[in-house]
Amino acid sequence: MKYLNIVQGRFLSRPNRFIAKVEVDGVEQTVHVKNTGRCKELLLPGTTVYLEKSSNPLRSTAFDLIAVQKGERIINMDSQVPNKVVEEWLRERDFLYDLVLIRPETKFGNSRFDFYVETLKEKIFIEVKGVTLEEEGIVRFPDAPSERAVKHVEELIQAKKQGYRAIVFFVIQMKGVKIFAPNRDTHPEFAEVLEKAVLAGVEVYAYDSYVTAEEIRLADAVKVMINLENLKTFLIPKPLLKWYDMEKRTLPWREEPTPYHVWVSEIMLQQTRVEAVKPYYKRFMENLPNIQNLAEAEEEKLLKLWEGLGYYNRVRNMQQAAKQIMEQYAGQMPGTYEQLLDLKGIGSYTAGAIASIAFGQAVPAVDGNVLRVMARYSMDARLITETKTKQSIEKALKEIIPKDRPGDFNQAMMELGAMVCVPNGTPKCTECPLQKDCQAHQNHCELEYPKKAEKKNRIIEKKTILIIQDADRTVLRKRSNSGLLAGLYEFPNMEGHCVAEEVLQYLRDRGLEPLHIKALEDSKHIFTHKEWHMKGYVIRVDELASKAKVAKEWLFVEPSQTKEEYPIPSAFAAYVPYLNIRQGKDNFETGDKKK
Ligand code: ADE
Ligand code: SF4
Repeated sequence: MKYLNIVQGRFLSRPNRFIAKVEVDGVEQTVHVKNTGRCKELLLPGTTVYLEKSSNPLRSTAFDLIAVQKGERIINMDSQVPNKVVEEWLRERDFLYDLVLIRPETKFGNSRFDFYVETLKEKIFIEVKGVTLEEEGIVRFPDAPSERAVKHVEELIQAKKQGYRAIVFFVIQMKGVKIFAPNRDTHPEFAEVLEKAVLAGVEVYAYDSYVTAEEIRLADAVKVMINLENLKTFLIPKPLLKWYDMEKRTLPWREEPTPYHVWVSEIMLQQTRVEAVKPYYKRFMENLPNIQNLAEAEEEKLLKLWEGLGYYNRVRNMQQAAKQIMEQYAGQMPGTYEQLLDLKGIGSYTAGAIASIAFGQAVPAVDGNVLRVMARYSMDARLITETKTKQSIEKALKEIIPKDRPGDFNQAMMELGAMVCVPNGTPKCTECPLQKDCQAHQNHCELEYPKKAEKKNRIIEKKTILIIQDADRTVLRKRSNSGLLAGLYEFPNMEGHCVAEEVLQYLRDRGLEPLHIKALEDSKHIFTHKEWHMKGYVIRVDELASKAKVAKEWLFVEPSQTKEEYPIPSAFAAYVPYLNIRQGKDNFETGDKKK
């Protein structure tokens, strides 16, 4: 569409959504802003803007602000333009070649959609959104939170469910951008609803536009990336493949990547390093050169070929799968990711590797190497050991995997993980093709990613707990005022698991006269960083308090006092009941040997 009477000006300020102050030929003009969005990254003081002179002399503002200069580009920011260019385009191009009707502003449910369109065969609702926010060739929508946009997309999902064709059409009001993505920073809900819409069958298109000061026309389709949470991910393929072409290793299974070769090598590579796999792979292929041979092999022979690789179930599963392939697919490896996933022992990684390397399908193959590279590249703090994380990374890679070289892309990611972004020790970032956009490298924290689950390896401490009682009192002692269970009370205890005789000696050394000893049940208490594994004894002694040599931190406590005055931590819960059980002499045995 053409503009008339365009003049240039210099943006000064924007007192409200509808009004801007612009200097034109040395004079400050009040102009009408034809965009209710924020565009705050575009309208910076001093920026060149393009104004259309209003043809109506009665208007309070003489100009409309319709475009803005940003570097080399002119970005159109007239909110009415996207609808107009889409209408023009629908009429002029054969996007919908058998068009019968275009009706703007048509009600559906509680919303109005920008267009209702009929072709000979279909009824279509189209919602148009203008896009002006651009950074490094990535355009995003919305530029400010927009509940209205969320609602529109929800309504489109309803329209689709009721049998209409439903389209969200993003008009990018500039030329020369690389991808369109929903803006997760300003409005995550919009990204979510857009993803839901795509799953429901709503179509999403993004087209950029030729923009000059005089004209705007819809131009070319721009790639839509809905699931890309980290937008820099889309920068990976080009430098990565260039690196791979220079640096890739010559590996036996890469020479003739048949489905069978890829399959066997990938299963072996799950067991051990590339170098160690080579001789096994060679011998395996000499002995069992095809799927039928594998299906029919004697188990003993099979295990012999695998000997030393370990995890024999993997090769047993391979034989099961080979039999499946003989029966279901006449000995030909099936060619789709889903069919491969159905075979015994083939998970998402192996299915992705075979589908992409041998069949050229654009599906990812995410192993530990790839997860590590991605965690570092995006400074992704999620645990890569969790299935959720792996699935999300698979989804992100699916969006960027080059359709012409999916197998090379997957192998390049793995190769980078194995050779450059190494698991043990410092990654070789200076050799890495991704260093420029790698978040961990840019922030000097490569070694902090991937994040590791907190270690559950607790220190185990063995203890022997002593319930020392005379006729009416029990011994407690106060724990140190710092450290674990600081300041609480406990039963005296000995390090390690002691037998009764050691306990008796321990007490005699402290001037006590044990009369009886009885072993109690074992118990365990788990703290964050340690575990106590406890043995317990109850020991009857002669008159506690009169014994002069008793350690002075020992307290002789009446059971009735303990609850209020001597808090005992739950670590000792198993033994606390013995405080109150007044056990008679007859209930005791001497020593635990007879137990
Ligand atoms: N590790 C496992 N499979 C691999 C492959 N196909 N290329 C490089 N490294 C790998
Ligand atoms: Fe890994 Fe360093 Fe490359 Fe980042 S720059 S992907 S941390 S090797």
